[in-house]
Amino acid sequence: MNAVEMHGISKEFPGVKALDNVDFSINKGEIHALLGENGAGKSTLMKVLYGMHQPNMGTISIKGKDVRINSPIEAIKLGIGMVHQHFMLVPVLTIAENIVAGAEPKNGLFFDLHKAISEVDKLAKDVGFTIDPRKKVEELSVGERQRIEILKALYRGVEILILDEPTAVLTPLEVKELFTTLRQLKQKGMSIILITHKLHEIMEVSDKVTVLRDGKTIGTVLPKDTSANELANMMVGREVKMGVKCRSTNVGDKLFEVQNLCLKNGDRFCLKDINLYLRKGEILGIAGVEGNGQTELIEVLTGLRKPDKMCLKIGEHEISNNAGADEFIKSGIGHIPEDRGERGLVLDMSIKNNCILGYHRINRFIKKGIFLNNVIGKYARHLIKTFKIKAVNEEIHVGTLSGGNQQKVIIGRIFAQNPEVVIAAQPTRGVDVGAIEYIHHKMIEFRDEGKAILLISADLDEIKSLSDRIVILYKGCVVAQGVTDDFTDTDLGILMTGGKISNEER
Ligand SMILES: Nc1ncnc2c1ncn2[C@@H]1O[C@H](COP(=O)(O)OP(=O)(O)OP(=O)(O)O)[C@@H](O)[C@H]1O
Ligand SMILES: [Mg+2]
Repeated sequence: MNAVEMHGISKEFPGVKALDNVDFSINKGEIHALLGENGAGKSTLMKVLYGMHQPNMGTISIKGKDVRINSPIEAIKLGIGMVHQHFMLVPVLTIAENIVAGAEPKNGLFFDLHKAISEVDKLAKDVGFTIDPRKKVEELSVGERQRIEILKALYRGVEILILDEPTAVLTPLEVKELFTTLRQLKQKGMSIILITHKLHEIMEVSDKVTVLRDGKTIGTVLPKDTSANELANMMVGREVKMGVKCRSTNVGDKLFEVQNLCLKNGDRFCLKDINLYLRKGEILGIAGVEGNGQTELIEVLTGLRKPDKMCLKIGEHEISNNAGADEFIKSGIGHIPEDRGERGLVLDMSIKNNCILGYHRINRFIKKGIFLNNVIGKYARHLIKTFKIKAVNEEIHVGTLSGGNQQKVIIGRIFAQNPEVVIAAQPTRGVDVGAIEYIHHKMIEFRDEGKAILLISADLDEIKSLSDRIVILYKGCVVAQGVTDDFTDTDLGILMTGGKISNEER
């Protein structure tokens, strides 16, 4: 008897058949990965299981019993929990308050905080987390917040845990810790459904993997019987080249130069004396463990935050330290933001309007203060086609697109405006392997046109495969820079964690 059995599930949204006769099942004590291209239907399938969507057809049984799951509350009662990619915690409340919210222990009529703290403490110890339940959630790192979301589900006694792209926002170390936790939970008999685009994670941690394509089940395989390449083929339906290395052959003059950049937070430096440059026809990668100044660097170099000191030039043109984001855009600097939900898109606005966000004041789209709706519509349809965005039409809210397709809207918007320099932060976060191949290809094409890209990514493999040169950032300082292929993996590992290597003058 399976813990969960979903049979013949179909789900339609206006104009989209998101799921078409899908079968999916998971055993007790199993980690089961769900893989598929952006828009394949993974999140939808799991939202059906969690009671957030009602299927148009199909049956679900839990531990052999047929059920109808009308809401997440009913799902939780059946032992099903889901951790979404965007966390739903309340930052100003403590860990304990967040975990018990909605299922508070009571003393008579009143909330029993003392009991909440001791229960949460015990639960955390059971699964090997060291946390202080009295700490506020706002003080926690992303990885820690995710643990709280998991604890929140466990507190409600779930036996089936759904994790939708849990590793997309984690550092490599946090991913390792998460996998240790998942293995422990599996030992205790939990069934875990893991959605991820990272094939090596599937190979590492899952017992089984089910592949979806275009809303249909392609098949279920055991990682030990397959390879990352074969999985990529299954999901995309063709051969995918992963991690292509393609160095620039035609580097020109300096196009973008940052000198003596300093940024303080209070009296502490978050960026100190940063010097770097980009030449025409070059991709410069920023390597570093997340949280070593990357976010602040991006903010300063896109005009979102004013530095304490800096000289910034694009070509011969100097950009004033007081310039706003608008002026950066006008000077030819495009920005792919690291957080697409917050900075990149307005989710409850149409795809069409999101396609011109930040560029809405340029003459092409506006005349005498009035938006040229037809022009913008045509432009959006062109982007949807060129960048292979999976959408019914340009009028729908960008928030209804799958995660990876939202990312393509941003990528399309920036590259279509033909900037000189692109500051690309996590450009392929949450994007499937086929789309990664496509985005990488676009970046290389752009570079080969004599433009330049500053690439910031938590994925070191991505940095290594795309960058012609690398700058290593540690505690807000550049600790080394040089030609990518001159650094070994060990060198990078040492430098990124504050160590020194013998010939660091490179
Ligand atoms: N609430 C909704 N309204 C309309 N269409 C939707 C809605 N939710 C999902 N869709 C559509 O259903 C399809 C499947 O989306 P889903 O989010 O399940 O994909 P996914 O496999 O999770 O992709 P990703 O890897 O990009 O997150 C997409 O075409 C998407 O646009
Ligand atoms: Mg999804």
